[in-house]
Amino acid sequence: MMIFDMWVSVGKTKILGPLICDVGTAAELKKIFHGGTRSPNSRYVLLQPITKRRDKMPQTEEDRLKQTLRNLEVKTSVLEVPQADRDQMTNKAMEMMNMFDDSTRKLTWGPVKTSDPGCRKVVGEIKETPTEYELVMQDFNDHLVNAGMNLSHPTCFGLIPTGGGTYPAALGAFIPATLASYSGFPRKVTTIVEMENKLIEWVAGLFGYPAGHAGNITSGASLSSLTAMAVARDSMGLKAADFHRCVVYCSEFTHYSVLRGLRAVGLREAVLRTIPLDQLFKMTTTALEKQIKEDKEAGLVPFLVVATVGTTLTGTVDPLNDIADVCERHQLWLHVDAAYGGFFALCDEMKPLFAGVERSDSILVNPHKGLFTPVGVSVLVVKDGKKLQQCCSMEQTPSCFAECQLFSDEHVSPSELSFEISRPFRGAQMWLPLNVFGVGVFRTALQEKLLLTRYFYGKLKETGDFELPLEPELSVVVFRATAPPGVDINDFNQQLLEGLNSDGKIFMTPAVLSNQFYLRVCVLAFRTHVEHVDLCFSVIQEKRLRLRESLRSEA
Ligand SMILES: Cc1ncc(COP(=O)(O)O)c(C=O)c1O
Repeated sequence: MMIFDMWVSVGKTKILGPLICDVGTAAELKKIFHGGTRSPNSRYVLLQPITKRRDKMPQTEEDRLKQTLRNLEVKTSVLEVPQADRDQMTNKAMEMMNMFDDSTRKLTWGPVKTSDPGCRKVVGEIKETPTEYELVMQDFNDHLVNAGMNLSHPTCFGLIPTGGGTYPAALGAFIPATLASYSGFPRKVTTIVEMENKLIEWVAGLFGYPAGHAGNITSGASLSSLTAMAVARDSMGLKAADFHRCVVYCSEFTHYSVLRGLRAVGLREAVLRTIPLDQLFKMTTTALEKQIKEDKEAGLVPFLVVATVGTTLTGTVDPLNDIADVCERHQLWLHVDAAYGGFFALCDEMKPLFAGVERSDSILVNPHKGLFTPVGVSVLVVKDGKKLQQCCSMEQTPSCFAECQLFSDEHVSPSELSFEISRPFRGAQMWLPLNVFGVGVFRTALQEKLLLTRYFYGKLKETGDFELPLEPELSVVVFRATAPPGVDINDFNQQLLEGLNSDGKIFMTPAVLSNQFYLRVCVLAFRTHVEHVDLCFSVIQEKRLRLRESLRSEA
């Protein structure tokens, strides 16, 4: 065993005391650190020249412990990346991000890859020892930049285009991560909490909620929904013994995240009524009210209606005012899932569709869809904020956690308004772009998406080659190609969809309406412009004609 007095600088100069090493390691250390040079094995540790050498063992138990601790500190000092290396890492990351941006732009005329079949084989194991940063970034590059599905690609028309944050929004994810920002409770981070509250207030204002509301920023609509279900359950005073008699009303097109949320909050046994849709694919209010009356007569406990602003499949908006009337008459909680469609409320021409939204009890909307933030940002607002607080917080902090008392009289803590305690500063991903760009450009971008949708719909209609079961309300077009004589239209369109997605120029998903197979285009990526919609249209026409041709030659 040898002891060295060493002057070690880790990041900013810091003197560490003696190090205990076995001889081999000590010699190696000397070689590695002498003269302040950096070794490949100690990339982030800078050492000043060794000043003194002692061969004595430490005298006390405490000395020994301290020296062991110092050794551990030196070993773990690689976690504190010095500025020069940070710059190198950042530059490499920037290179990769720029390549991604470039490929996203260039891919306008190239493939949107939907899968990376080699991925499982290629991705390495997690190892005990470090891997060179360059190699790790190469992996990222291969698997993130050059492979996988990019749901924010300009020619992604499938699902709901999501994520693909604008650059300031991406910085909104990065900066709080570097600052270790924590928005769980306001004691030390009042400004962050205030910023998030301001964003929630802005969203609440968009939907006409009066003062007294409260909300939280969650990771997605699924978690926002789950929270809303829990608040509705508690506010209506439901107890576990009654869950099997409780009734939830949604439509055939309600997103399944709502149903999963219900299960998660204990309402798996609740009765779920799927209210039929009208010809415009909106919840039929007369059927809703009739069902509620029947359920009441049968001794059940109707308590919750879920309406959707922008159904995933057709982009339609349920008749909010009519549904709110029914809820009012029967004292039911009205929750609005505006995950996809909510931010279209920014566009004046869409306002009539939102009439009545202010009468709902809770609403969620996804900035990671309509505001083009990176994935992981959803806003839930509950009109009566106290109900959210009562649902999520404890009446009293358990005495063993008394020291962690999070709450203050001045500020309600975000952790009292959500089921999370540690939570990242997700709001920064909204705050930065909304301030850097201003709200106006988001309104304009959403107007562009609405117009592109109408443009695409018009082009399909003009050909006479497609069935179009509904006019788009927001930014979804549902359609199917007419089939050649003797060919089943569902089969024809299924084959067409396979063909459309086969070379990855565009990406689309289907919609099954009344057991009929349709194709569906959703325009929401902020980079999608008229050239991409034109490309989509021409690919559809080309593949449709080719499929007809091949079926004819087979016949
Ligand atoms: C209407 C609707 N609700 C909820 C969700 C689920 O959203 P998230 O992925 O943010 O949980 C989606 C996703 O597309 C949706 O369209």
